[in-house]
Amino acid sequence: MQVLSVASECAPLIKTGGLADVTGALPGALAKVGVRMRTLLPGYPAVMAALSEPEAVHRFDDLFGGPAILLQAHAAGLDLLVIDAPHLFGRPGSPYQGPDGRDWPDNPERFAALSWVGAHVAAHGAGGWRPQVLHGHDWQAGFTTEYLRAMGTQDVRSVLTIHNIAFTGATDPARIPALHLDPWRFHPEGYEFYGAVSALKAGLVGADALTTVSPSYAEELMTPEFGMGLGGLMRQRRDALHGILNGIDDAAWNPATDPAIIPFATPAAKAPAKAALQAELGLPPAEGPLCVIVSRMTHQKGLDLVLETLPTLLDMGGQLAVLGSGDPGLEQAFLQAAADPMVAVRIGYDEAFSHRLIAGGDAILVPSRFEPCGLTQMYGLRYGTVPVVALTGGLADTVINASPAGLAQGVATGIQFSPVTAGALRNALIRLGVLYRDTGTWSRLQANAMAHPVGWDRSAQAYADLYAFLTDR
Ligand code: ADP
Ligand code: GLC
Repeated sequence: MQVLSVASECAPLIKTGGLADVTGALPGALAKVGVRMRTLLPGYPAVMAALSEPEAVHRFDDLFGGPAILLQAHAAGLDLLVIDAPHLFGRPGSPYQGPDGRDWPDNPERFAALSWVGAHVAAHGAGGWRPQVLHGHDWQAGFTTEYLRAMGTQDVRSVLTIHNIAFTGATDPARIPALHLDPWRFHPEGYEFYGAVSALKAGLVGADALTTVSPSYAEELMTPEFGMGLGGLMRQRRDALHGILNGIDDAAWNPATDPAIIPFATPAAKAPAKAALQAELGLPPAEGPLCVIVSRMTHQKGLDLVLETLPTLLDMGGQLAVLGSGDPGLEQAFLQAAADPMVAVRIGYDEAFSHRLIAGGDAILVPSRFEPCGLTQMYGLRYGTVPVVALTGGLADTVINASPAGLAQGVATGIQFSPVTAGALRNALIRLGVLYRDTGTWSRLQANAMAHPVGWDRSAQAYADLYAFLTDR
């Protein structure tokens, strides 16, 4: 089985969030079940710099406003196709924003170009290779199905994965010509979305199969609250929609071999990692649990609720250590909270520090308002850092609540709370304090967490089965 993955980010080459972790890990996991996945990426400076012996396989005289070369290359164990188009991707900053933190104004065209090249490779092949399935990720790959349709390609199946429906890639209909879209498809059964043009909507309408990154989020997507205007379409396409849980890269996130930490293999052996983290952050030993957070700071992640409930955590002798960046208001509020000697906050993005936090914490807080899958709670599980999570999306699917029944059966791995309010989080923190003091129960919880499967094996097979189902038809 040959599959082209079309993505706007891919770890370890270029990452802003979990999307990159997933697109980076999937090819390796799929290789074990007989799927060859090549990944098409924009040639951002960081990607171009990582390529070894790139080979030109196609030239575009005019790709959305300038010449471009399609390169075939390898980097970081990935089999890549890269769009070398300096006029679109040769820019500093993140994949989506300039150094000033603002979205590039031509993002619709930049990712339309990614989608166009994806469709071109699916239709005509690249360097003698042609996929049977085009698997796109999020709105950045949404127009692939429109372009495949325009190219008249019918022998390639398409899959679109929804990592986060909040990002629709919506733009002004005045850009229809610049986006090389068929104007006759600007209607509710096409790429029209409340009067705007939406790349995500295009893909949701056009792809043969839709997937999202957890079974619970697949269900939630069909509701008005979580569907964010696309719930009706999700209900219409319910037979094509599959919830396939993300895994984590369990080689990079293995507490027994992690080079970023003092390694450990059992809950009892976690203590040096915790002591090292406290020393690094200037936190004294404390009676209560050390709670950690590694997160983008946005409304989605519910971190304002942590600020609101911080007094409860501190009253019970707990501590908080945070790594994140994003919303300037949240950044400021966390920095202010760090005036308390039991709170440490670092604003920024730091891969190695994220490992030290997750290894050294007693608990990891993930109070998201919605969470398609979420990866950090799974890192927490693997490191015996008990997840305290909102009962939503992938957080509901990956953590087993320490309810009386869960504890009695000896299967609990963490704490879930609902609804996503400060009151419910406060109660969860109080439960955390009680469990933490009961050392027998606590180490059982940690051991269960560490034993919980969080790798890719099952989900890679689920994707392979889906590709097979689509191409058998
Ligand atoms: P999302 O993709 O919505 O941000 P996920 O939990 O799926 O949420 O993935 C987030 C990924 O980004 C994880 O790998 C997490 O460790 C990483 N991450 C988030 N913020 C930071 C940060 N400030 N420093 C280092 N890694 C971070
Ligand atoms: C998105 C979601 C997150 C998910 C990630 C990878 O960024 O917000 O929940 O884990 O994609 O699928």
